[in-house]
Amino acid sequence: MTAIVYFSRAFENLIDGEKENLHVGNTKIVAQKIAEILDTETIELIPKTAYPKKYQAVFAQAEQEKIMNERPKYKPISLNLEKHQTIYLGYPNWWGTFPMIVATFLEKNDLSGKNIYPFCTHEGSGMGNSIHDLQQLCSNANIHIGLPIRGSRVEKADIAIKNWLQHE
Ligand SMILES: Cc1cc2nc3c(=O)[nH]c(=O)nc-3n(C[C@H](O)[C@H](O)[C@H](O)COP(=O)(O)O)c2cc1C
Repeated sequence: MTAIVYFSRAFENLIDGEKENLHVGNTKIVAQKIAEILDTETIELIPKTAYPKKYQAVFAQAEQEKIMNERPKYKPISLNLEKHQTIYLGYPNWWGTFPMIVATFLEKNDLSGKNIYPFCTHEGSGMGNSIHDLQQLCSNANIHIGLPIRGSRVEKADIAIKNWLQHE
C-alpha cells in the first residue's frame, strides 16, 4: 500500500517575486492531487509550534533551523509503516532542500527498504539538494526520481503529476 506524507505551509509567501497570502500551501495542493489519482489518504506533518505567517519571519527561522540542523517536532500522525511499501513524500524547497521537519520524520521512522517518491514545490531551485539529503538520511530506502513543481504552477500541474505517477 501507498502513503502520502507531506509538509506544507500556508499564509504569506513569495510567488514569482510577489508576496501572496496562500490559503492552502502549494505542496498540499500537489499532495491532494496525488491522493485523488491514487485514491489514498494524505498524512500531513503539522508542526507542534506553528511557523510564522509572515514570509520574512519564516524565511529567517527556516535558515536558522537548517544551520543548527534542528529537528522541529510535529503533531502525532497515524502511519503504520508495516502496511506501506511506497511513500510519496512532499515538501516545499526551503533553503535548497527539504524543511528540517521532514528530517524529523525521516529519522523517527524506519524507512529501510521502502520506496520513496519525493515531490516538492519551489520558486526556481527545483528539488535542490533534497534528493542527496534524502539519500544521506535514509540510506537504506530506495529513493526514486522526484517531481519538482513551481509553486505558481501547481494548479496547472495535473499532466506532470500523472506522468510522474506512471513510473514502473
Ligand atoms: C522559508 C522558505 C525558504 C524557501 N527557500 C527556497 C529555496 O531555497 N529555493 C526555492 O526555489 N524556493 C524556496 N522557497 C519557496 C518555496 O519553496 C515555494 O514557495 C513553495 O511552493 C512553498 O510550498 P508550500 O506552500 O507548500 O509551503 C522558500 C520558501 C520559504 C517560505
